Amino acid sequence: MRLISGIQPSGNITLGNYLGAVKNFVKLQNSDKLTDFLVFIADLHAITVPQDKTELRKNIKSLVALYLACGLDPEKVKIFIQSEVPAHTMLGWVLQCNGYIGELERMTQYKDKKERQVAGVSVGLLTYPSLMAADILLYDANLVPVGVDQKQHLELTRDLAIRFNSRYQDTFVVPEPYIPEAGAKIMSLIDPTKKMSKSDPNPKAYISLLDDINVVKKKIKSAVTDSDGFVKYDVENKPGISNLLTIMSCVTNTSIKELEEKYKDSNYATFKEDVANAVALELTPIQAKYNEIINSKMIDEVLDAGRDYANYLANKKIAKIYNKIGLGRKR
Ligand code: TYM
Repeated sequence: MRLISGIQPSGNITLGNYLGAVKNFVKLQNSDKLTDFLVFIADLHAITVPQDKTELRKNIKSLVALYLACGLDPEKVKIFIQSEVPAHTMLGWVLQCNGYIGELERMTQYKDKKERQVAGVSVGLLTYPSLMAADILLYDANLVPVGVDQKQHLELTRDLAIRFNSRYQDTFVVPEPYIPEAGAKIMSLIDPTKKMSKSDPNPKAYISLLDDINVVKKKIKSAVTDSDGFVKYDVENKPGISNLLTIMSCVTNTSIKELEEKYKDSNYATFKEDVANAVALELTPIQAKYNEIINSKMIDEVLDAGRDYANYLANKKIAKIYNKIGLGRKR
């Protein structure tokens, strides 16, 4: 079984990215059904909105170091930068030509981002899901571990694969999303009805994996809750407390039921204190490892190996696709 996933290097990697995606990559890398696991840095996706050159480079490197610091093992997972494998863009174009504007315009993430983008909406923001489909289909991935917000893009990927397969005969594996039961949608700490996002203009809304540990604790202690005064999982009526329960459940590997029982007589201050300490306990070793490797040679070594392997797989596949369509000369 082949797995692939990616994260955009477009800001601070958050606790949401960690619990919804990276923590599961680390679990899945040990699966005995695995033949290949590819994890990349989606830098081409990041430029759908304007990026500062220096920041982008810094964020790419930082994301590689975070992947490793969170426990991805380069022996088991090939880590690479999307823009260093040109076949992603090549297939992205082919899939744009097999997708419909209407289906791209229906993507909720596009609609949200379009609203927030004041300085002009790039064409890339609209066509981005075709590139994401290319990232996946290029490798015939069976499973794509992601958070809930990427589910719609995965459905489009499946539609494009099925459409292409029926037009040009079987070419692509139709992938399945792998969405974790808990942690697939971590919410903002200041508005728990909104997703925690690395592009939130208010840093109090998210926890960055690299936030100072005291800042992490402070953010959790000041997370918006409610005035009921009892700890219970109820997303509709108690979204803030439910979000903290989810976070606690993920970082301590304890069920929400058990946590509800444990905190049934606690006040919010005690509960938040424990959540803050549990998150701090999870992030402290990640930060220590990050600081150890961020300036080491390991980063380039991992990226060189990942790039070579991904190009090897991707170039074989794109040649087959071009042949099926009739592009260029037969190879
Ligand atoms: P991105 O960079 O927005 O997010 C990376 C991963 O983190 C998950 N995630 C969350 N999970 C739980 N709670 C949250 N608040 C939260 N916020 C984000 C996302 O679901 C995702 O799994 N388009 C993708 C990157 C991408 C990709 C791909 C992923 C490009 N090509 C191919 C898989 C396969 C994105 O923008 O993710």
